[in-house]
Amino acid sequence: MTFTEYMREKKQQIDMHLSTLLHTDIPQFSTLYKAMNYSLMAGGKRIRPILLLATIEALGKDSAPYLELACALECVHSYSLIHDDLPAMDNDELRRGKPTNHVVFGEGTAILAGDGLLTYAFELMARQPIAPEKLAPCIAVFAHAAGPAGMVGGQAFDLESEGNLHIGKRGLELLHQSKTGVIFKAAIDLAALLADANETEKQMLDAYAVNMGLTFQITDDILDVIGDEAVIGKPVGSDEKNDKATYVTIFSLEEARRMAKEAAQQAIDAIAPLGEQAWFLRDLVSYMLVRTK
Ligand code: IPE
Ligand code: IPE
Ligand code: MG
Ligand code: MG
Ligand code: MG
Repeated sequence: MTFTEYMREKKQQIDMHLSTLLHTDIPQFSTLYKAMNYSLMAGGKRIRPILLLATIEALGKDSAPYLELACALECVHSYSLIHDDLPAMDNDELRRGKPTNHVVFGEGTAILAGDGLLTYAFELMARQPIAPEKLAPCIAVFAHAAGPAGMVGGQAFDLESEGNLHIGKRGLELLHQSKTGVIFKAAIDLAALLADANETEKQMLDAYAVNMGLTFQITDDILDVIGDEAVIGKPVGSDEKNDKATYVTIFSLEEARRMAKEAAQQAIDAIAPLGEQAWFLRDLVSYMLVRTK
C-alpha cells in the first residue's frame, strides 16, 4: 500500500465513523449539534487519529479496535480549531475551506460547539471497551495533553507572545510543542500504552513525536506565508496580521525550512530501529515537509 492510499483509506474510515457520532433527538439542541458537525465534518486531514492508528500498527498490533478512540482525538482537535479562529484569538474567517464556525453560527454557539466537542471526546473515550487498567491512564494522558499543562497552556502562551519577537528558539520550541506537538505526542503515547510498547520503543517514539510535531508546526508557519488559500483552506497571512511569534517571523523562510528539515530527519532517525513495520510513520514526516495543505 502506498502512503497516499493508506492516508485515504484511514481518513475514509475516520470520516465515516465521525459522521455517526453527534446526533440529538432534542430539537432545541439541534443548532449546537449542527455547529459541532459543521466543523467536525468540514474535511480535516485527520492526521492525529491516523497517527494513533498507524503507531499501533508500527508496534505490530491491530489498530481496528481503536477507531473510535482515534475519533475522540479528532473531536478535541476540531474544538481547538473552532476556538483558535474566534475573534478573541486568531480572528480568522476561513477554516477547512469554509467560513469559520463563529461566522456561520455566531460567537456564542461557536464557543459552545467547541466546549461540546471537547467534553464529548472524553465521554467517548471513557466508553471504550478497553481494560480498566489501561483506560484510566489513557484518559489521564489525553486530558493532560489537551489541558492547561499542554495545548491550552500553549494557546495561552501563543496569545501572550503576540508582538514578542524575542522569545527565541527555545521559546518557539516550547510554544510549538505545547500548542501543537502535545496532541501528536498524546496520539503516540496512547498508541504506546495500548500496544504495550517496551521502554526502548517508548523512548524512540518520544523522540519521534517531539520532532514530528515540530516539523508539522514549522511547516504550518511556512504555509501561513507561502501557502495557497484555496488549497490550505485557511487564510494566508494570519500570523503576520496577528503579530504572531513563528519560525518565519522570528527567523526567516529559509531558516524555517532548514529547521523543519532538521527536525524531520531527527524524527526519521529516531525510529529507524523499528524497521519496515514503521514505514508509514517515516513517510508521514516526509509528507509534513512537502505538504501544501
Ligand atoms: C491545523 O491543523 C492546526 C494546527 C495545529 C496548526 P491541521 O493542519 O491538522 O488541520 P486540519 O485538521 O487538517 O484541518
Ligand atoms: C493552532 O495554531 C494550534 C491549535 C489550534 C491548538 P495556529 O493558530 O497556527 O493554527 P492555524 O494556522 O490557525 O490552523
Ligand atoms: Mg492560533
Ligand atoms: Mg490560528
Ligand atoms: Mg498557523
